[in-house]
Amino acid sequence: MAVDGASRVRRAENGDYGPATEVLLRSRHASVPAIPPLVHLDEEVRAHFVGTVMPVAEVWVAEVDETVSGVLVLNGNWIEQLYVDPDWTNQGLGTAFIERAKVERPEALDLWTFKSNQGAQRFYERHGFRAVGGTNGDNEEGEPDIHYRWAR
Ligand SMILES: CC(C)(COP(=O)(O)OP(=O)(O)OC[C@H]1O[C@@H](n2cnc3c(N)ncnc32)[C@H](O)[C@@H]1OP(=O)(O)O)[C@@H](O)C(=O)NCCC(=O)NCCS
Repeated sequence: MAVDGASRVRRAENGDYGPATEVLLRSRHASVPAIPPLVHLDEEVRAHFVGTVMPVAEVWVAEVDETVSGVLVLNGNWIEQLYVDPDWTNQGLGTAFIERAKVERPEALDLWTFKSNQGAQRFYERHGFRAVGGTNGDNEEGEPDIHYRWAR
């Protein structure tokens, strides 16, 4: 099922960083326990993403009816963040983000996902990503993760 023509993926502007971070927070909270809980307070996450990460990263947002409903952060070939608002999952926004990322980075894409996040693994594998590594918890949350790569 896809959202209608009123949705689009576009580069974020400064004013989108706040709404995009709220989407990220809502998605992270709704994803527990598939994704481990955040180890920082929401306020800290807001300050970090709005003030530090997004101004220097390549940020894309998905809009539905002019409301930011998903966020993708690219850094080099890495997908550093990909979150769709819980109200809008399973409707093709994540697929639209991946298709855009492949256009922007036509050679390869890398990302980390938690081993516990089986829905995301299905999603990435369906889009041609393959597991190429992982750790037993070498991340802030201390939980096992998988390194996925898509290559042209
Ligand atoms: C994973 C995610 C980005 C995919 O975007 P989407 O718009 O829901 O995806 P699409 O509609 O294009 O594709 C649907 C697929 O996404 C995955 N998916 C859907 N909802 C999901 C959820 N809440 N958590 C994880 N994966 C999910 C499933 O693989 C689903 O396919 P299925 O029919 O086999 O279940 C999105 O669901 C999401 O933000 N999930 C929660 C946060 C997350 O896991 N982010 C990725 C961190 S690495």
